[in-house]
Amino acid sequence: MIETEKLRKVAQETAGQRCIDPACGARFGLNDRLYVCPSCGGLLDVALKAATDTDPEALRAVWTSRLASFDPRERSGVWRYRELLPFAADAPVVTLAEGNTPLYAAPVAAAYCGLEALTLKHQGCNPTGSFKDTGMTTAVTQALILGARTVVCASTGNTAASLAAYAARAHLQCAILVPRGQISHAKLAQSLDYGAAVLELDGNFDDAMRLIRELADDESIYLVNSINPFRIEGQKTVAAELLQQRDWRVPDHVVVPGGNLGNSSALGKGFRELKDLGLIDRLPRLSVVQAEGAAPFASLFESASDVLIPIEHPQTLATAIKIGAPVSWKKALRAVLESDGNVLSVSEQEIADAKAIIGRDGVGCEPASATTVAGIKRLVASGVIGSETDVVAVLTGHILKDTDYAINYHQEELYSPDRASDKTKKERRLAGTYSNPPARVQATRAAILEGLRRHEQQRDKG
Ligand code: F0G
Repeated sequence: MIETEKLRKVAQETAGQRCIDPACGARFGLNDRLYVCPSCGGLLDVALKAATDTDPEALRAVWTSRLASFDPRERSGVWRYRELLPFAADAPVVTLAEGNTPLYAAPVAAAYCGLEALTLKHQGCNPTGSFKDTGMTTAVTQALILGARTVVCASTGNTAASLAAYAARAHLQCAILVPRGQISHAKLAQSLDYGAAVLELDGNFDDAMRLIRELADDESIYLVNSINPFRIEGQKTVAAELLQQRDWRVPDHVVVPGGNLGNSSALGKGFRELKDLGLIDRLPRLSVVQAEGAAPFASLFESASDVLIPIEHPQTLATAIKIGAPVSWKKALRAVLESDGNVLSVSEQEIADAKAIIGRDGVGCEPASATTVAGIKRLVASGVIGSETDVVAVLTGHILKDTDYAINYHQEELYSPDRASDKTKKERRLAGTYSNPPARVQATRAAILEGLRRHEQQRDKG
C-alpha cells in the first residue's frame, strides 16, 4: 500500500463528527445525519485523525502526479486531495471538475493597495462561477451516501446555483430558498436552468436560513448550507490547491470576504490540517472582510466580544454577503484568532472602487469578492500589512454573476442601499471613481479615432 493510501485508510478509520464547543466536544459517527450537535446545539466539524507517520514529500508527489491524469476524480481540484477528505475509495463522487482555479499576479490592484505584489486566487472560475462548487461536490456526494432524495439550501444565489447543478448531476430533487428580489438575475437564471425548485421567500437570507433548518428534520431531506460540515470539507481543499500552486510557499496573509462565514472557516481548517500533517510549517494570517451594512462579525471582532449580535436588516449592494446572522461565526473566529488575522468592514464606495481596480488587471469578480482588495488597502494604510507582505486575496465569484452592478457603476448609477437614513437618492449615489462608461459614436472613422483618444485621456485620469 502506498503511503497516501495508508494515510487515507487511517483517516477514515478514525474520522467522525465532533462538536466544536470545547465545553461539549461530543463525538458522532461520520455518517450520522446531523447538522448541529444534538447535545448542545454547537457546530460540528469533521475530525480527521491523521497518521503520525505521514511523509509530506510522498503526499506532495502523489498530488503533483495526479495533475497529469484524466481520471475525473483527479481532474477535480477537490478530489485530487482526497487524502484530506472523509470519504471511502468507493464513494459515489459527484463532480463537475471543480477547483483548478487560477492564481493571478495583480500589479494594478497591488499598487492600489500600497503593496509591492498581490496575488488573486480566483474561485469564481469554478464550473458554476463561484467557490461554492468546491463544497457542493462533497456535500452532494455525502447526500448520496446517506440516501437522501431531496437536497435543500437557503441562499443569496451562489450556493443555490451550485447546489442546483450538482443535484442535477446526481439526479436528486433540489429545492432552494432565496430572498425574493434580492439575488442577482444571473444566479437565479442558473438555478432555473439546472432544474431546481426555486422558492422565493418574502424575507431576507436569515429568514430563509431559519426556515430551512426546520425542514431538515425530515429524513429524506438533506441540508447543504455551510452549516453542513461536509461542505466545509470540500471547501477546505482550496488551501492545498493554493499551496501546491505556490510550490508550498506559505503566503503571509490570506484575505477572504465574509458572509455566512463558511469559507473563512473552511480555509482555516484547511491550513491547520496541512500544518498538522507537516506539509507547511506555519499558518498564513487569515483575515475576513465584510460589507459595512452587513458586518456583525466585524463588530464582534472590534469589540473583542465572544458573542455575535445579529443584524436584523443587513444592507449591501454586494448581495452575496447580505447576511445579518452568520451561522459559522464560531468556526471563523477560531480560524482568525488561531492565525492572528483580522476582521474588518468596508464601505459600499470602497467595494465598488476595488472591484473596478481588480478589473484593470483583467480579472473580473462580483462585488462581494472585491471586499478583499478594499480590506487589504485599509490594512496596509493602517500598518497591519506591510508593503512587502506576501498577500493572497480570494475572489469568490465571477463578474458575470452580477453584470447590473458593473454597468451601473460605470454609468454612475449605483446607489448606496442605506434607505433608512434621511439621505436623498442623490446623496446615496456612489462615485464612479474608476468608471469607464460606454461612449456613443457616429459611424465614421474620424469619430471612432476621436472616441479612442478621449477614452485614453479619461483612463489616464483614472
Ligand atoms: N462571496 C460570494 C460570491 C458568495 O456567494 C458568498 C456567500 C460569500 C462571498 C461569503 O462566503 O458565506 O462562506 O462567508 N454566499 C452564500 C450563498 C451565502 O448563499 O450563495 P461565506
